[in-house]
Amino acid sequence: MDTTRRTVLGIAAAATAATALGTFRAAKAQNAGGIAQFNRRDVNTLDPDDPILTTYHDAVKAMRALPEDNPRSWEHQAKIHNRYCPHGNWFFLPWHRAYLAQFEGIIREISGNTDWALPYWDWTRNPQIPAPFWESGSALNHARSANSTTNMPREYVGEDVIEAIMLKSNFEDFASFKASAPYNGTGGGQATLEARPHNRVHGAIGGDMSSYFSPRDAIFWLHHGNIDRIWASWNAGGNANTNDSDLTSFLFSASQRDRDGNVNASQFVGPNGSPIEYTVADLYSTQQMGYAYDRLETTVPNTFIFAAQNLALQSATQEVLGRDINRTVNAGVPLETAITITSALTQSVAETGRVQALSRIAALQPVSLPKLSTATLVARGLKTPKDPDATIRVFLNCDYLTLETPISDPHYVGSAAFFLAGGHAGTGHDHNQGATYRFDLTEAVDALRRSGRTISEQIRPQILAIGADGKGTELAIDGSFELIIKTVG
Ligand code: C2O
Repeated sequence: MDTTRRTVLGIAAAATAATALGTFRAAKAQNAGGIAQFNRRDVNTLDPDDPILTTYHDAVKAMRALPEDNPRSWEHQAKIHNRYCPHGNWFFLPWHRAYLAQFEGIIREISGNTDWALPYWDWTRNPQIPAPFWESGSALNHARSANSTTNMPREYVGEDVIEAIMLKSNFEDFASFKASAPYNGTGGGQATLEARPHNRVHGAIGGDMSSYFSPRDAIFWLHHGNIDRIWASWNAGGNANTNDSDLTSFLFSASQRDRDGNVNASQFVGPNGSPIEYTVADLYSTQQMGYAYDRLETTVPNTFIFAAQNLALQSATQEVLGRDINRTVNAGVPLETAITITSALTQSVAETGRVQALSRIAALQPVSLPKLSTATLVARGLKTPKDPDATIRVFLNCDYLTLETPISDPHYVGSAAFFLAGGHAGTGHDHNQGATYRFDLTEAVDALRRSGRTISEQIRPQILAIGADGKGTELAIDGSFELIIKTVG
């Protein structure tokens, strides 16, 4: 069977079809003047009968009524996500920004409300799913495992979590890191914004929100509006996105193969139903795309970051200490490994952690440490537990770790949730190749030193899995633990 040739022909046919339909390359010139035309507002500040909400409701209802093969239909829009959404790598933020923008365009067109902008749901301020999404018979209501009084957990969406995310100075530490392709590529992994609030809100809502068909639930779009707003806030705070051309010049094209290798002659859909394409660089500025948020997150000026950036210009070294692990641990038992480093390096990491922690509380005088060293754990190949609602907590060098150990313990590092890390709907196979997560250990090393626990030469990261019932659950890894020590100065 000449499958290669068939595939090539398939692409050509799809490309032609897309051109015939008039594929529109989204241009940043759309808003060259630089004044945002569309204002995305906090849903919790809107009256239930605000035109933003009534327009949204009516448009969703109309999209639900369209036949599935109409590109603007509700089900087709959800299929785009199931087929193409990148998770666990740095395509995550720009792809979802494009996805929201094309959706917003469709709603403006369908509703005739030409200045409509998608509202966002700030789950940090308002941790319950907003009331309009619970009205019986409403197109905004949906079957969920959460109910109207379920709070998104503070451990995942709390102010301190968002603040720590906002203080990341590197694009890849902020949300997700580099991979060769949006899916089925090599590399990639999740940093805090994706692994923590993003994944957990999907899981805590449940129903379709726990799957790649999550956009079937109208709250999906407002959840991602908030993820997008945090990204815009981070940029507004002076942090630049990566300028690596592997990302910036990537085109989300109409003829891109989907996750299963098929060409569907469409990815994103323009207002009139024709394909629309986006290059990542054109998705970097919300202002150039024509929209703004009514409120951005801000943080105190971070002198640690400024110092690190200045020092980074001088010199940077990186040491990677790896351990391959293929292991399954029983419920309640942490997955762990000990990695030996020099005590001088531990000392340097601890001092950096102290400055990092202090700079979150107050603006410091610019720091001039001789060296700044950060320690990062990258856990690769962590299998999604059987309980899809399971979460993980990471601790460091804790001799008494159990499921009862609170997250206020000085050994605590951070938490993460799974979002179908390995698999998605629509294939019959087990795609559980595991997920990759990145955790910053720097402040925890300092917290341990300050509380008198000596960890001079042994860094021992521990991962504990917790099921939906709060009890422990089995956890497996077929990959590695890597300790990355980065020193600048
Ligand atoms: Cu691609 Cu939060 O979903």
